[in-house]
Amino acid sequence: MKMYAESGDLVNGWYAAGLSSSFKKGTPHRIEIFEIPLIIWRKDDGCIAVLLDKCNHRNVPLSEGKIVNNCVVCPYHGWTYDETGQCTMIPSEGPHSERIPNKKVKSYPVTEEKGLVWVWMGKENEINKKPFPMPTMAEKGWNHYFMVTHFENGVTDLVENFMDVPHTIFVHKGWFRDRKQIRITAKVERTDDSVLVTYDQSNDSIGFNGWLVNPKNLPMKHTDKFYMPNNTRVDYIFGEEERGFIITSTCTPVKPFSTMVYTLISYKFGWLTPVAKFGLHWYTKKVIMQDVWIMRLHGENMKSFGQSDYRSTQCDTMHLYIESLRKAAASQEENPKPITKDIEFWV
Ligand code: FES
Ligand SMILES: [Fe+2]
Repeated sequence: MKMYAESGDLVNGWYAAGLSSSFKKGTPHRIEIFEIPLIIWRKDDGCIAVLLDKCNHRNVPLSEGKIVNNCVVCPYHGWTYDETGQCTMIPSEGPHSERIPNKKVKSYPVTEEKGLVWVWMGKENEINKKPFPMPTMAEKGWNHYFMVTHFENGVTDLVENFMDVPHTIFVHKGWFRDRKQIRITAKVERTDDSVLVTYDQSNDSIGFNGWLVNPKNLPMKHTDKFYMPNNTRVDYIFGEEERGFIITSTCTPVKPFSTMVYTLISYKFGWLTPVAKFGLHWYTKKVIMQDVWIMRLHGENMKSFGQSDYRSTQCDTMHLYIESLRKAAASQEENPKPITKDIEFWV
């Protein structure tokens, strides 16, 4: 729970708890967000319930119990709770429902959108936004699928990794981008709640089979965007949206060095879209596991050294902006001022 207390305004967000498809009716699940154990279950009406995973009686995890009549029954002495956290039955008290202590188990606001179950981790009366809009689900010509990945690192360093171009020629050598020493320029903008990077990179190319992604060699538009507190969206668009490949990630902090990442891969490859499907799953899995590997090594070193002690160059500008926004939110300080900067680097 220490993590929650130290996260300041970062907790004010909708955090993905899992794919909608992974919550079946009547089965309790335990998840953890900001080190807070939660029980999640789907009721018969299809709605999702989320409670703190802690029985009021002797604090046993409710998620080890059973769902009966849409309520969760604690595995220890059978205290039974509805989706609001109200205890509805204590077996040892027989018919005396008036003996039920009136303290509720804390419940959490929950919603389902775009294939994900989202839990609001801030104060209930402060819900001021919607879940992050995962893109292109409905637009014609686009296909999509989710990847669910556990990373052994924290949200800040993960979103930096997802927005990082220079690592691609090392970590993903031969897979995503090869080293050619091309000069790349970009505009980096920090707003109140986002960091937006627009690359001038029309002569760059990204991995897997140019003939599939971009057979006509159309100019590529590449933008990387970070949205507070935990979302990134990377767009590669070819021509006037004739083809495209978009990687959208939303990160759910489990513990300081443990994060669940829900990645939506959206793609539009013209008539090759159905063909692409097979290779793409395999390819994106391979690439993401390379990032899992480097982020685990990074996380382990962070634990050994206790804190970050980073040196940065121009190509890290977006990372510094991300760090500044997340740090301000965590310490509940005023946001840094909006700023725009032109950068150059070579890959
Ligand atoms: S600990 Fe849950 S019923 Fe006793
Ligand atoms: Fe990567």
